[in-house]
Amino acid sequence: MRITYLTLFPEMYENFMHTSIVGRAREKGIVAMDCVQIRDFAHDKYRHVDDTPFGGGAGMVMKCQPVLDALDSVRTPDSHVILMAAGGRKFDQQCAHEFASYEHLVILCGHYEGLDARIEKHVDECVSIGDYVLTGGELASMVISDAVVRLLDGAIRRDSADDESYENGLLEYPQYTQPADYNGDKVPDIMLSGHHENIRKWRLLQSLLKTRELRPDLFAAHELSKEEKKLLEEYDKTQE
Ligand code: ADE
Repeated sequence: MRITYLTLFPEMYENFMHTSIVGRAREKGIVAMDCVQIRDFAHDKYRHVDDTPFGGGAGMVMKCQPVLDALDSVRTPDSHVILMAAGGRKFDQQCAHEFASYEHLVILCGHYEGLDARIEKHVDECVSIGDYVLTGGELASMVISDAVVRLLDGAIRRDSADDESYENGLLEYPQYTQPADYNGDKVPDIMLSGHHENIRKWRLLQSLLKTRELRPDLFAAHELSKEEKKLLEEYDKTQE
């Protein structure tokens, strides 16, 4: 897979591209990443990429020409082009899987007060990482890429991805490591029992309880299996 960022701040990607799982995935050739400086496509003497908004108002607006010329320079028939925007489709794990299936993801990052609205007609979709406003799309594009890269074959161990929060519609169960007793705070006995089937059931119950308490919206959308229903009923009985 290849991810291309169209940005005014390519330096923001330096650490991101070279660190941890994303850095290793690049080294292994699982993903290629490149930044295109939008300013390189500005034609005037001062390389202006923005201008004042028609109709007045605060701030500057990014102009069509440099942005769309930068986009044309990288776009191929295989490209899926997304524009980072606070008002876009809300990014989630399902969206991450969808983006991970593309050959070439192009991520256009706005800055300043926004982009000329006509630019939207040239992208496949606008995507938001949450209901808040960032100063630019760069951090949002890294959030999305991070979630996408870790889904690519070979980026991380598969079994560590499958049990995670959101993958099965539930939040992840709690994990523990050494020591078994940290200043009196003990790991639950069952985790030390070595009984794999009981551990699996305990983890599933913890996932269910955590999701029911912290994310009632996810819990309501989750169709309980027979086993899950039984585990919860048994647990609720012990609480009566
Ligand atoms: N640009 C500004 N705010 C954003 C957000 N919440 N998500 C994606 N891009 C943005």
